[in-house]
Amino acid sequence: MSIQILGTGAYVPEKILTNDDLSKMVETSDEWIMQRVGIHERRISMHESAAEMAEKAARRALDAAGIQPEELDLMIAATVSSDSICPSLSARVQAALGAHCPAFDVNSACSGFLFALDTAAAFIARGGIRYALVIGAERLSRVLDWTDRSTCVIFGDGSGAFVIAPGEQYLASRLFTQGNDTALSISAGKGNSPFYEKELTPYKVVMNGQETFKFAVRRLEEDIKLLCEQAGITPQDLDWIVPHQANVRIIDLCARRLKLPLEKFYMNIERYGNTSSASVPISFDELARSGKLRKGDLIAMSAFGGGLSGAGCIIRWG
Ligand code: UT7
Repeated sequence: MSIQILGTGAYVPEKILTNDDLSKMVETSDEWIMQRVGIHERRISMHESAAEMAEKAARRALDAAGIQPEELDLMIAATVSSDSICPSLSARVQAALGAHCPAFDVNSACSGFLFALDTAAAFIARGGIRYALVIGAERLSRVLDWTDRSTCVIFGDGSGAFVIAPGEQYLASRLFTQGNDTALSISAGKGNSPFYEKELTPYKVVMNGQETFKFAVRRLEEDIKLLCEQAGITPQDLDWIVPHQANVRIIDLCARRLKLPLEKFYMNIERYGNTSSASVPISFDELARSGKLRKGDLIAMSAFGGGLSGAGCIIRWG
């Protein structure tokens, strides 16, 4: 048994932080960020927790699907910037929505939403689940080092969600992990143990940009090829690719290597930056609501990030 997407939703906080605003905080410029990454502005949560943002995206996805929270049988959230380790982000959202289903989180950094989607698909294949809610939500502004220009200009806050059900849309999926803590990490922070002698680094994003860049380009290209093979199609058959919004240059390189027109890659990085696990569901929601999708369209979603991790899937729309 496969799955179908019944409804999608996304939410970004109101506060816009432009590159010019950032240039007053660290030594950077709109020109550098636009040329090297492709971001012009990102959203920052001033008043909302990750769970509050997640709830807003979830309500929009539930509305689009025509499903009530009480009808959900499963909820999985992906995040690396949860408000607390316990309760999980999904448990907070479950309470806020008034849902009764089991809820748990997964952490695969920027690939997290697609790991969560594949996990929900596996639960649905097992049987007994009518509706599942999958969320990617991040309040990364809380875990960024705002003095580090190589990371604080890249990320943004936001959330996205899908309501899924048994169906026949999910044609291929792939999960990938290459354990590595030098390229990209967020430490859990220095703990309280009086017995532990090793000092942990503070709770913040640390990234080796170039190492992550190389991993990202390789992952995106390879995953799309392997997913297409699994689905019995070629990359040229894809109508849309919804990639993780990490860097326009990563997407551009991948498009060239796969010999695909850049127009097939949905992009909103200029407006939101990299929202980690929320990036793919926010992008997919925008595409779905744009009216550009046609029944039968083949869409690949692909993400990569900390872990190091990669994940992707292909769906047939409609
Ligand atoms: O979502 C998780 C996955 N993450 C990614 O996929 C991110 C992958 N990496 C990247 O997108 C890029 O590596 C970055 C955007 C992070 C950095 O771009 P880059 O072209 O790789 O820059 P770089 O790290 O090689 O730095 C080039 C120069 C350095 O100056 P020097 O040493 O050449 O004088 C940096 O200090 O650019 C400098 N630099 C900046 N300059 C102005 C780094 N950040 C900035 C900045 N503004 N914000």
